[in-house]
Amino acid sequence: MAQHLLLYASRDGQTEKIAHVIASELKQCGQTVECLSLEEGTAHFNLDQYDSILIGSPIRYGHHLPEVFDFIRQHETFLNQHPSGFFSVNLTARKPEKNRPETNSYLQKFLGKITWKPGMTGVMAGSLLYSRYRWFDRVMIQLIMKITGGNTDTSKDIEYTDWDAVQQFARKYSEYLKECTVSSDGSVRRSKPVDA
Ligand SMILES: Cc1cc2nc3c(=O)[nH]c(=O)nc-3n(C[C@H](O)[C@H](O)[C@H](O)COP(=O)(O)O)c2cc1C
Repeated sequence: MAQHLLLYASRDGQTEKIAHVIASELKQCGQTVECLSLEEGTAHFNLDQYDSILIGSPIRYGHHLPEVFDFIRQHETFLNQHPSGFFSVNLTARKPEKNRPETNSYLQKFLGKITWKPGMTGVMAGSLLYSRYRWFDRVMIQLIMKITGGNTDTSKDIEYTDWDAVQQFARKYSEYLKECTVSSDGSVRRSKPVDA
């Protein structure tokens, strides 16, 4: 039976929460999946035991987390020779016009910087957790929220994540996995395209 890996990085827990919801939905779809944090490092698992990989990262100050970039650079060949996906978690995606891979500039810039071509991509709204931020981050996020027309009331935490959309992404990823085949030359093919 195929073994799938879901690897995530997270600072305040939202990407972790999203990753676990995706993993649980993938299991509902009949997939065998292991959900692991990149924070624990990569020494505790063997990438070669997996048939596919899905990676999730939040955005902080305009960038996906550095450990995600490092992992992608180190495992580029594996990533390009297996069915794979990537999802980005950010606050910009709270806006409906910026919550798709084609319309989210963080994801577009990210794809332009890496040589990995994920077979499927997704963008999810994260959470605004003023109560957890350090003073500097709280002030900066409040400023970003002011500029972008978001919530500036630091007494309120808001979870913008659309859980139906997260589950839908997981179901589409499961369809994608079922449609993928890996050729003897390592290239990944799929029978029909899937829109995230
Ligand atoms: C210090 C900091 C910087 C952030 N910078 C951005 C940003 O540049 N753009 C954005 O859309 N969201 C930004 N966010 C929002 C996070 O992407 C969002 O809160 C996400 O849910 C965090 O995921 P995590 O809980 O897995 O760390 C920032 C959040 C923090 C705390």
